[in-house]
Amino acid sequence: MKILVTGGTGYIGSHTVVELQQQGFEVVIVDNLSNSQASVVDAIGRITGKRPSLEVFDLVDRDKTDDFFRRHNDIQGVIHFAAYKAVGESVANPLLYYRNNLVSLMNILESMATYQIENLVFSSSCTVYGQPDEPPVSETAPIKKAESPYGNTKQISEEIIQDTLKSTSLKAIALRYFNPIGAHESALIGELPLGIPNNLVPFITQTAIGIRQQLSVFGDDYNTPDGTAIRDYIHVVDLAKAHVVAVKRMIENRMKHHFEVFNLGTGNGYSVLDVIKSFEKVSGRKLNYVIVGRRPGDVEKVWADPSLSNRELGWKALKNLDEMNASAWKWEQYYRSKE
Ligand code: UFG
Repeated sequence: MKILVTGGTGYIGSHTVVELQQQGFEVVIVDNLSNSQASVVDAIGRITGKRPSLEVFDLVDRDKTDDFFRRHNDIQGVIHFAAYKAVGESVANPLLYYRNNLVSLMNILESMATYQIENLVFSSSCTVYGQPDEPPVSETAPIKKAESPYGNTKQISEEIIQDTLKSTSLKAIALRYFNPIGAHESALIGELPLGIPNNLVPFITQTAIGIRQQLSVFGDDYNTPDGTAIRDYIHVVDLAKAHVVAVKRMIENRMKHHFEVFNLGTGNGYSVLDVIKSFEKVSGRKLNYVIVGRRPGDVEKVWADPSLSNRELGWKALKNLDEMNASAWKWEQYYRSKE
């Protein structure tokens, strides 16, 4: 069973490739390496005993995408991660985001139709819900107007996929991620942000190891128990496993509709201060942090109702916040020790 993983050298993609290979799938990665390194395939090889094949090109290129699918028309399914994902950058440069995230998706869909490859797992986000009226948020919650061009690309992508399904034999599962953190237990792969991290946990681990001086906590005046914003953090390996389950569901014809959507979260909400406390506990380090003003565009609180994915996919996130932080810390230490 051959699966194409686009963006397979990235953070979530690389962890998913590991799980796929460990479940016996053959994996071909397409990545333009715009936010990742080719050496990730060696790390995957060390973990699984098999180095996945990697083709480096940009899926925005229609001809190269078509040529790839022509040569690999025995692919059983596509897991599409490859996309830009920085909220702030998308506000500063919206057309970059629309072109990259939407054109690549359309190229993939066109080639899938041409070569009759029917199964697509799409990387979506809880950002499509905006600030839900009352968390936990289930898949039936309304899609609110996107807060950023990045979020809008996820909404539009889901729409493009649904419209395409109506005129082709394609099937698709959109997985809406909450906040993925942590790293593989081997510490051979993990999150590797370029430059200054935008996200909380990489900023925490880089502060703890001394690359950043101080963590800023964005706002302590939210309507939450300790005043800091609440998210549903999920271990990246739990998230990766859900992709394997989704691919199998498609290949084994167990889908109930041609388009299905699942939330991937734990169902637990933790505040920024909860995450910091957990990190300090598992690392044994005191974190240098300061409370500053709110970050524009942040929602107050959001966490998943994961009951549909638990029931329908037979999947459940297993790792707790301490395990997530411990693995992120182990990865940061291991990675920096190699530099
Ligand atoms: N935070 C800080 N300090 C930091 C970084 C983050 O206090 O240095 C806070 C944020 O304000 C927020 C929480 O930590 O309350 C989590 O922030 P992240 O940036 O880690 O995650 P977000 O929830 O903002 O963003 C994530 C993904 C986005 C996605 C969004 C909504 O990174 O890609 O969820 O789905 F769009």
